[in-house]
Amino acid sequence: MRIGILTGGGDCPGLNAVVRGIVSSKRSDMEIFGFMRGWNGPLEADYIPLNKEDVEGIHILGGTILGTSRTNPFKKEEDTKKLFENLEKLKIDAIIAIGGDDTLSVAAKLSSFHFPVVGVPKTIDNDVSNTDYTFGFHTAVNVGADAIDRLHSTAKSHNRVFYVEIMGREAGWIALEAGLASGAHLVLIPEYPMTLDEIMSVVDKRMERGGYCIVAVAEGFKPTEFEDEVNKHKAVDAFGHVQLGGIAEFLTEITKERRSYETRSVVLGHLLRGGTPTAFDRILGTRYGVHAMDLIKKQDYGRMVALSGNDIVSVPIEYGVATKKLVPYDYYKLCTLFFG
Ligand code: F6P
Repeated sequence: MRIGILTGGGDCPGLNAVVRGIVSSKRSDMEIFGFMRGWNGPLEADYIPLNKEDVEGIHILGGTILGTSRTNPFKKEEDTKKLFENLEKLKIDAIIAIGGDDTLSVAAKLSSFHFPVVGVPKTIDNDVSNTDYTFGFHTAVNVGADAIDRLHSTAKSHNRVFYVEIMGREAGWIALEAGLASGAHLVLIPEYPMTLDEIMSVVDKRMERGGYCIVAVAEGFKPTEFEDEVNKHKAVDAFGHVQLGGIAEFLTEITKERRSYETRSVVLGHLLRGGTPTAFDRILGTRYGVHAMDLIKKQDYGRMVALSGNDIVSVPIEYGVATKKLVPYDYYKLCTLFFG
C-alpha cells in the first residue's frame, strides 16, 4: 500500500512530530511518499520516500521537513485534473493531509470524490472545530506569554503603553491565552470587539493604577466602529485570505493622538510559530500521527483525528472545517476580570 503525506498552510511547531508518528507506525507492506510543499507536491509529482531512519529525531525540530505552501488544487480546473492524474500515475492509495482549515477543506473535497483521505488538524491559531486543541497552539502561547513577560519590565521602567500584535485571524485563542498567562492588562480579540473609546478607558484605568499598560491584540481584531480589519497589506492567498497586520501600529497611533502616554507597538508575527515545539505539541503531534496511520490501517477514510479531553478520537473531516472554533464568551469573560 502506498500512502502520500503532506503538510499544507502556515508551518506550525509539531508538524515533524506528526510526520515521524505516521512513518514510525507504518506496516512493512506500506510505502510512504512525502509530498513536498503541501498540495503542490501531488500537483508536481514532487515527493521523497520516507522510511523510519529518515524521521529519527525530527519531532524536536520546528517547521516541516516536507516544506509547505498555500496551494489550492481545486482553484483551477487544469490543476484538479493534474492532481487526479498524478495520484493515479504515482499509484497513491491514500493521503494523509496535515493542515488547517484550508488544507483540510481540500482533503474534504478530495474525499467527496471518494479518494481515501485522512486529515490531521494543524494550526497555531487553534481554530479548527471539533478538536480540543491543534498542535502548535501550545508552543505559540508559550512564545507569546514569554514575550509579554519580558515587556512588563521595560514598559514599567518607561511608564509606557505597549500594544502587542499576536497572530489570530478570526479566533483570538493565542492572544487570549498568552495574555492571560502573562498578565496583559487588556486582550483584544476578533470575537469580542470594543470601541476605541472603551479601549482608551481601560488603558486610562490601568495607567492610573499601575503606571504602565500592556495590551495583547489579535491581528484580526476590529474595533467595533470598523467594518474591515485594520490591514496594511494587500496580498491575498489562493484561498482568498488577505494578509493581516497593522492593528498594533494603528492602536499605537490612536493612543498617541488621544493621550500623552508614550506608546509603542510590537508585532510577534511569525516568531510565534518558529522554532522548536513544546513537549505538549511534540506529544500531541506524535499521537495524531500514529492515530492517523491507525485510521489508514482500518481503512476508515474521510476522517480527521481530533483531541477530545485527553483521548484521540476521529470525526468526519468536514466537521473540522465547517465552522471556526471561536473563543467562548465564558472564557473571555474570565479574562476580563484581569483587565485594567
Ligand atoms: O497559520 C495561520 C496563521 O498563523 C494566521 O494566524 C496568520 O494570519 C497567517 O498564518 C499568516 O500567514 P503567512 O505565513 O502566510 O504570513
